[in-house]
Amino acid sequence: MSDPHDQPALAVEPHPARMSDDDRHAAIADPGFGRVFTDHMASALWTAERGWHDAKIMPRGPLSVDPAMSVLHYAQEIFEGMKAYRTEDGAMALFRPGENAKRFNASARRMAMPELPEALFLESVRRLVATDADWFPGVTGGALYIRPFMFSSDVRLGVRPASEYRFLVILSPVGAYFRGDPKAISLWVSRDYVRAAPGGTGEAKCGGNYAASLVAQAQSIDHGCDQVVFLDAVERKWVEELGGMNLFFVMADGTLVTPPLGGTILPGITRDSLIAIARDEGLSVREERYSIDQWRDDAASGALVESFACGTAAVVTPVGEVRDGDDRFTIGSGGPGQITERLRRRLVDIQYGRAPDQHGWVERIG
Ligand code: PLP
Ligand code: COI
Repeated sequence: MSDPHDQPALAVEPHPARMSDDDRHAAIADPGFGRVFTDHMASALWTAERGWHDAKIMPRGPLSVDPAMSVLHYAQEIFEGMKAYRTEDGAMALFRPGENAKRFNASARRMAMPELPEALFLESVRRLVATDADWFPGVTGGALYIRPFMFSSDVRLGVRPASEYRFLVILSPVGAYFRGDPKAISLWVSRDYVRAAPGGTGEAKCGGNYAASLVAQAQSIDHGCDQVVFLDAVERKWVEELGGMNLFFVMADGTLVTPPLGGTILPGITRDSLIAIARDEGLSVREERYSIDQWRDDAASGALVESFACGTAAVVTPVGEVRDGDDRFTIGSGGPGQITERLRRRLVDIQYGRAPDQHGWVERIG
């Protein structure tokens, strides 16, 4: 199965005792984000001798972990975040899943992990969603959040790439990412910490990036903000992204600006899709550096009218206020702006099958 052209044949080992209908309905009535999980998971193993093998859908349950398992010590771990949607006509659909498969392998290469055949990644996701199809939450904006991940499972303490890995996919029925589904979020500018440095792991989706962001995120909450925004590591001047979302700036003339990819920013699939949607709508988009000082000045002068964060989990979330130490500034009206709302609606309408999919982004399952 290590040949990327192989068609994986995934065995399904059904759960002997799925959650009852009543319990499942109660669990998905107001799921929040990442708290509820479905009955099954996808699993595959990799060893240096056998490559990828034992790919299957199996009951979700605890793993047995040896205390010397290498991921616990050296954090060789990567993950993806994607969603399955129930479209208007009742079908199940994925949004640009091939891009997640490619990014997963880019992350694997950066972390000296084996690549996973894209066909196996995609088939694991599709079969798992089809197996747990009765877990879609009915809430507005609800979806099945899909979390593929891979970690080193060697039992030894030598510091080197492992010779055994495990790939798993779990599903979480979700509603809005931000508690209370706020109209706009506030950001805390981290001056003490950076997320990623040139040559580091910023563009990989590895667990370590998130571990390193948590202290800054905690400071953001301590200061009454929803999320942390990171500046570049070299000049501490250029706005990069949030802990788990990319960022866009909307100028008064309708031009969008977003920080360029270049090794320190996660190449978001939502970011890429919004760039295309904005251009479809006749807006001009510039991928260029934008400084924190410029952001403050442009917000004050009215040259900048909106800002928003975007990602699979957060979808498109308006930014209402930015706090930088004792200084704070409001973006536009402090609430959702028109262009943000237009782009958000266009994106979710495509994802939920309410608008034409002119880029061929939506892939139906089953
Ligand atoms: N930036 C970071 C650090 C993220 O964790 C995410 C979420 O995956 C994103 C940006 C947005 O990426 P995507 O739109 O592919 O979900
Ligand atoms: C996502 O948007 O999928 C993310 O991974 C962000 C966060 C939940 C880690």
